[in-house]
Amino acid sequence: MNEIDLLITNANLATMDLALSSDATTESSTEHNDYAVINNAHLAISDGKIVGLYTDSSALPKSKTTIDAKGGWITPGLIDCHTHLVWGGNRAREFEWRLQGVSYQEISRKGGGIASTVKATREASDEQLKKDAATRLSRLMEEGVTTVEIKSGYGLSLEQEMRMLSIARQLGEEHAVTIKTTLLAAHAMPPEFDDSDAYIEEICQTIIPQTVQAGLADAVDVFCEGIGFSVEQCRKVFEVAKAHQLPVKGHVEQLSDLKGALLVAQYDGLSVDHIEYLQASDVETLKQSDTVAVLLPGAFYALKEQQLPPIDELRKQAVAMAVSTDLNPGTSPQASLRLAMNQACIYFGLTPAESLAGVTRNAAKALGLGESKGQIKVGYDADLVLWDVDHPCELSYGVNLSRPVNIFKQGITLK
Ligand code: NIG
Ligand code: FE
Repeated sequence: MNEIDLLITNANLATMDLALSSDATTESSTEHNDYAVINNAHLAISDGKIVGLYTDSSALPKSKTTIDAKGGWITPGLIDCHTHLVWGGNRAREFEWRLQGVSYQEISRKGGGIASTVKATREASDEQLKKDAATRLSRLMEEGVTTVEIKSGYGLSLEQEMRMLSIARQLGEEHAVTIKTTLLAAHAMPPEFDDSDAYIEEICQTIIPQTVQAGLADAVDVFCEGIGFSVEQCRKVFEVAKAHQLPVKGHVEQLSDLKGALLVAQYDGLSVDHIEYLQASDVETLKQSDTVAVLLPGAFYALKEQQLPPIDELRKQAVAMAVSTDLNPGTSPQASLRLAMNQACIYFGLTPAESLAGVTRNAAKALGLGESKGQIKVGYDADLVLWDVDHPCELSYGVNLSRPVNIFKQGITLK
């Protein structure tokens, strides 16, 4: 091998590579196999990719730069696969109402909730929106997040949805992070419309085609819910997305069981998100369509929900489970994926290893990036984090206790 760009020596790798987890090169304990560990390893990186994994230090390639990990733990860069990170204003007043016992649905029906953020977002200048979004993005990145999905959905007109997506794209160009954009025009009713079918027509005839033409959307999302859109309306949106070769996903079964998850599965969707009200008997369909279950414990926590997603059945059917912040001003004002990892364990009963897989391998899959990100594997992007922990379990256990020592984005040392 020619001289490589970067060699990281003496690391313990939580590779999250399923192919390795039962391999003889990993430690034999189940606990270690869950993280697909390689102890005392050396990582070769060139052109932003992982080009070699070694346990024999006598056979290492020559490198321009070498970093000694000193026995520290390295994981794949964390991936936040569901955020609404671009928004205007805030909903602190609504938080006070909710604490007084007014429900999210009631606030939404009275014109608060998403509608109030739509108003504030439309009123904000491009500069303000981008500045606030960049601050939130940096909060995630400080924690070792190297890929973020960002949805529109607070614009609800062609011009405003495109503005949000274009700000999201710009964030990806100006910061050392991969951004995947998602068009969520079917999030709520815009004030200009009183007929939801007419707005769905606008999404299908105008918003999706023009957003696609501008190259602004990587996927299409919907809010399939009593206070959102019906299954039949979401189906129309998915038909148009499919005609434009865009993958789909859905906010489904968050507050009630409308069977939105089955619709997403019919369209071989990337993910079904929230799913607290998903019936265990519907899980098999997700397995068949290879759709990721995205768990959003931050929204569950902030809304003080009681209904738990069907974790045992998802586990039994080996449906990939991702964990994300759902960062948004209403139901999850939480710019911490590490906290979401902890909440996924505490509230949903995930193991710390499942939680880590949820923000690495499975989050990559939820974004259609499963072949390039979310695992430490030769040929994969060198998005990596070196942590100040004694075991990867600590990443889910503590809140603001452990931090990244180094963050590498496509082989470039950020920290
Ligand atoms: O993922 N469920 C709908 N959308 C967001 C909430 C958006 C908001 O309240 O502003 C969610 O929870
Ligand atoms: Fe959401």
